[in-house]
Amino acid sequence: MRIIRTVTDLENYVAAARAEGRSIGLVPTMGALHEGHLSLVRKAVSDNDVALVSVFVNPTQFNNPHDLATYPRDEEADFRLLAGAGVSAVFAPTPEEVYPGWPEPAAPKVYDLGSAAEVMEGKHRPGHFQGVAQVVSRLFELCRPDRAYFGEKDFQQIAVIRNMIASEGIKVEIIACPICRADDGLALSSRNALLSEEGRREAPEIHRILGQSVEYSRTHSVRATHDSVVEALDANPMLEVEYYEIVDGRTLLPVEEWEESDWIVGCITVYCGDAAAPEKRVRLIDNIAYRTPSNH
Ligand code: PAF
Repeated sequence: MRIIRTVTDLENYVAAARAEGRSIGLVPTMGALHEGHLSLVRKAVSDNDVALVSVFVNPTQFNNPHDLATYPRDEEADFRLLAGAGVSAVFAPTPEEVYPGWPEPAAPKVYDLGSAAEVMEGKHRPGHFQGVAQVVSRLFELCRPDRAYFGEKDFQQIAVIRNMIASEGIKVEIIACPICRADDGLALSSRNALLSEEGRREAPEIHRILGQSVEYSRTHSVRATHDSVVEALDANPMLEVEYYEIVDGRTLLPVEEWEESDWIVGCITVYCGDAAAPEKRVRLIDNIAYRTPSNH
């Protein structure tokens, strides 16, 4: 596995692969890799001649400096896992490489990300999706992938990236991959490493309550289903719901009736940890499908 640190080396690597007519699959990551990332990586390895993985904690998508400073990092372990998974090359640059002029780069471009970027994470993490669009479009420009792989835990991110490539006219196939879960149901996330022992014990409640709500939704309204999830999770002293929204799977806009769409997803963000120490709480996201179109 090649470890690439600079834009020049990456461009040369990609140009050589392209010249040989090899297809390229890209898995963008922020490192601290887990089985969820590896499931994307394995798909990229099997679908493409060249599987490229980026490991870059992108500072421009963090609206909270504490969150950026505490984001888990373990490059050596990441490289070991990627080599074991058959990755062709890993791009692990500094911010200076990715953003010319860093730490005072030129004013960033503003991307047209559609209304999907205005709700949920867009509302609670101002600037987050512009940062994601900035880094993902830069990675697409440098890696020129045929396909790019993203996990459905970040359901809204996938919709926003699809909007970004449509508005920028970027030709790349976006492959959305299912959420990977621990045996107790907790969605795998790099942030799980930050959970306290007690937090880790309680966090699977998120998926358990969401799962129960699917059954509940068969006989209750959207509003009642929404409220039942928030009430059940907020009753746990280790959990606090930041938002729960039941949305159309394509537009990401809230639905009021189950009949409104053939694709309805509940998207949640929960703070997990002791409310008396808010700076130690971990922000977890997850989602559940209430309706799934047959072609999904
Ligand atoms: O999902 C992530 O890990 C990040 O948002 C991404 C897509 C790698 C961009 O930094």
